[in-house]
Amino acid sequence: MVLAGGLGTRLLPMTRVTNKHLLPVYDRPMIFYPLQQLAAAGIDDILVVTGGDHAGDFLKLLRNGQDFGLEHLRYAYQEGEGGIAAALALAEHFAAGEPIVVILGDNIFQDSLGDAVAQFRANPRGAMVLLKSVSDPERFGVASVDGDRVVRIVEKPDQPETDLAVTGCYMYDARVFDVIRGLSPSGRDELEITDVNNQYIEWEELRHVELKGWWTDAGTVASLRRAAELVAVDPDNPVLAGRGGLALGGGD
Ligand code: DAU
Repeated sequence: MVLAGGLGTRLLPMTRVTNKHLLPVYDRPMIFYPLQQLAAAGIDDILVVTGGDHAGDFLKLLRNGQDFGLEHLRYAYQEGEGGIAAALALAEHFAAGEPIVVILGDNIFQDSLGDAVAQFRANPRGAMVLLKSVSDPERFGVASVDGDRVVRIVEKPDQPETDLAVTGCYMYDARVFDVIRGLSPSGRDELEITDVNNQYIEWEELRHVELKGWWTDAGTVASLRRAAELVAVDPDNPVLAGRGGLALGGGD
């Protein structure tokens, strides 16, 4: 599933009349990148969660998902912006007891996520997060690792213990929906995905993979610009360009 709710207030005034995930990142709308990633990882039944005033534009843009080679593209509407875990909760019926891959609509990954998804598919119990060493960990969930185990994740710590950001791609077994039901809102009044991940740590069932290629979000003015620059200099990357060349309708 792709999470594209939230108000995008960090990108005002650009998000006054549209949804953040519809803004361009280099040559295509932001939401194309996570959709292309899931499609490239062999996931062809996808739920897009969106919200706010512009939810209808996602249907106009993405239609039935054929441009991405999808079998099914479904949509859900999140009232308000109660957090990433609240948006994920809307997928319970969609997941129907099966494991689920979640990707944030403003996250762009250089590498294919196919290997990590295949690893989780091979052993779909517990959860998996993807980590990336970054220069500004205080902007993210930050993982502390002991040997090959993540022992703790702290959301946007003032003094990060490591430089390992928890990126916006998560994989869960069906227990995730019970975990979310047990959460309370955080200081920013959201149901936090970090609290979900910490529950799996407590159960000793959180696996992780460290990414080699670059990763960025695109949710601030600086990161939106950086995302466009990173994509622009990587023209032959199949997960950034879309498989088989998408029917983008553009010219030179
Ligand atoms: O980008 C990775 C980071 O994403 C993680 O390292 C953090 O642990 C995680 O909390 C999150 O941090 P942010 O505070 O930057 O997330 P943000 O509020 O910008 O939301 C990211 C995406 O999640 C956004 O593009 C759309 C989706 N979202 C967010 C909220 C709050 C929803 O679909 N619904 C929501 O209510």
